[in-house]
Amino acid sequence: MNEVIQNILSRRSVRAFKEDQISDEDLNLILEAAKFAPSGMGKQEWHFTAIQNKEKIEQLVSAAKEVMQNSPIEQFKKMGSNPNFNPFYNAPTIIITAYEKNAPTKVSDCAVALENIFLAANSLNIGSCWIHILALAGDDPKVRSILTELGVPANYEVSGTAALGFNSKEASNAAPRKEGTVNIVK
Ligand SMILES: Cc1cc2nc3c(=O)[nH]c(=O)nc-3n(C[C@H](O)[C@H](O)[C@H](O)COP(=O)(O)O)c2cc1C
Repeated sequence: MNEVIQNILSRRSVRAFKEDQISDEDLNLILEAAKFAPSGMGKQEWHFTAIQNKEKIEQLVSAAKEVMQNSPIEQFKKMGSNPNFNPFYNAPTIIITAYEKNAPTKVSDCAVALENIFLAANSLNIGSCWIHILALAGDDPKVRSILTELGVPANYEVSGTAALGFNSKEASNAAPRKEGTVNIVK
């Protein structure tokens, strides 16, 4: 099997990270991979914010957990109130992907950029996980003001976040693939 296919098939979501930081070289490669994702009409109307500052990540964790605590969804409430829960799993690096509000293919553009991030990370032996909470909490005034301080442009909304770092636990095996999801017509 070629290396690219092997990389795609071996990527798993990682939810336990060591404290060690990833190198600047690797971070830059991962961001470069994000920027080379396809985008609708090639418009590249995305923005990436990489954060490696523990305090800044902690600010986001607190604000996001506050939103979860106030959610009508019982499971979110429970997670938000759990002092041991960190929505970014203590990852030393997070990358926020955001899209321009009016870009026609905004959600898809950022989704493919995120997948490039995960695949680039996996190829560099760096673990990763898609974290969705900021996409849901981005309109909260406290979360928004932190995002603004971090440099997310005012007209951009969060599509998702990549948590990145070295695995501190083996990721679980891939779930069996669902049957009946492919149809080949010749
Ligand atoms: C749109 C999207 C949102 C996700 N949000 C979260 C999340 O907030 N937290 C989390 O731990 N995993 C999240 N995941 C990761 C999925 O749970 C994971 O991809 C799925 O269980 C399959 O596992 P695998 O990535 O190891 O193949 C998200 C994945 C996607 C595509």
